[in-house]
Amino acid sequence: MPEYNVPQISQDVYWVGVRDWNRRMFDALIPLPQGTTYNAYLVKGSKKTTLIDTVNPGFERELAGKVNQVADLADVDYLVMNHAEPDHAGAIPHVLNVSKAATLVTTEKGAKMAQEYYGVPEERMRTVADGDTIELGGKTLKFIEAPWLHWPETMFTYLIESKVLFPCDFLGSHTAAGFYDDEVEELIPFAKRYYGEIMMPFSKMGAKALDKIDDLNIELIAPSHGPIHRNPGRILEAYRKWTAGETEEKVIVVYVTMWNSTEAMIKTMVETLLGEGIEVALYNLINADLGDIAKDLVDSRAIVLGTPTVLGGMHPQAIYAAHLVKALRPPLKYGVVLSSYGWGGGALRQAGEILGPTKIEVVGALEVNGPPSDDDYEQIVEIARQLSAKITQ
Ligand code: FEO
Repeated sequence: MPEYNVPQISQDVYWVGVRDWNRRMFDALIPLPQGTTYNAYLVKGSKKTTLIDTVNPGFERELAGKVNQVADLADVDYLVMNHAEPDHAGAIPHVLNVSKAATLVTTEKGAKMAQEYYGVPEERMRTVADGDTIELGGKTLKFIEAPWLHWPETMFTYLIESKVLFPCDFLGSHTAAGFYDDEVEELIPFAKRYYGEIMMPFSKMGAKALDKIDDLNIELIAPSHGPIHRNPGRILEAYRKWTAGETEEKVIVVYVTMWNSTEAMIKTMVETLLGEGIEVALYNLINADLGDIAKDLVDSRAIVLGTPTVLGGMHPQAIYAAHLVKALRPPLKYGVVLSSYGWGGGALRQAGEILGPTKIEVVGALEVNGPPSDDDYEQIVEIARQLSAKITQ
């Protein structure tokens, strides 16, 4: 049997999760440059033992091996399912099969999902609502409904006596590095890209959840991805800012170019913005990492989208980016679209169709025929100055 590292994060609370160093993509959408973790936790009360969340399918044996080093998986009394997505709930059938008497604890919506996705029979489930508690003997689990973070059934679990919050996906980060927050140099950038990719579309629900846990005495935040926060204030403060939609004097510029005309327009835009003292995050969509773009969407006040015209519309990479901007619902206030075409336009029209329903105010839109002329460059400088004025006003 392999020997595992099973750290005790608080008295009788153990990390029994898995590090997935090699995973490079999540949901066929989110790049994972440093892999991720699926954190599960074992809580041993004097009378009852609880497993909080499980792990991604394929890691069942590792989870079982870790639990068995500090307890006996067959003797687990409760299995808490904070969230039904398979990276945390995929090993539920295995656990319930080994732990014959274990009861799955989840929200009402979670119970329906557990039944549908994992075939958990009703008689093996206990549904909990906001504020419900379960006594383990010297330890008490309190459940906090936190829906839409980022599925409808999500909840947090709070271990009252140990002052540990288990918020599942919320407050997490996709990195397999480190164990505690202060051991990861770039923790906040990693947490920020994770927030942008997963939680930003639900910022209002995130803010509500933060209000709900505001009066809890929290010493440790133990999320289901990435490092455990033993300095909870740092990540909570960052989430307060992000969920409130606080932005910087910053522009995210995303573009794609075919024969360098669009790139020439973008360069003039960027140079002018930098000259005006505006922070710029620049991405060529051909080699950009979606997670980096999501990270910079979290606190950019404006976006500049550059695209050539392809078959009467935007370049497909720009369509993808525009769709993501719409779907991720970043707190952008202003936008500019720059485009070039060979013999007929259409990209600006399509950008308007995709981004029109957002709250982004269009400060400028310019479509040029072929390489930009001196007049075009002058117009771009003027648009950049107007954008800068809007951003800093
Ligand atoms: Fe980490 Fe929504 O699952």
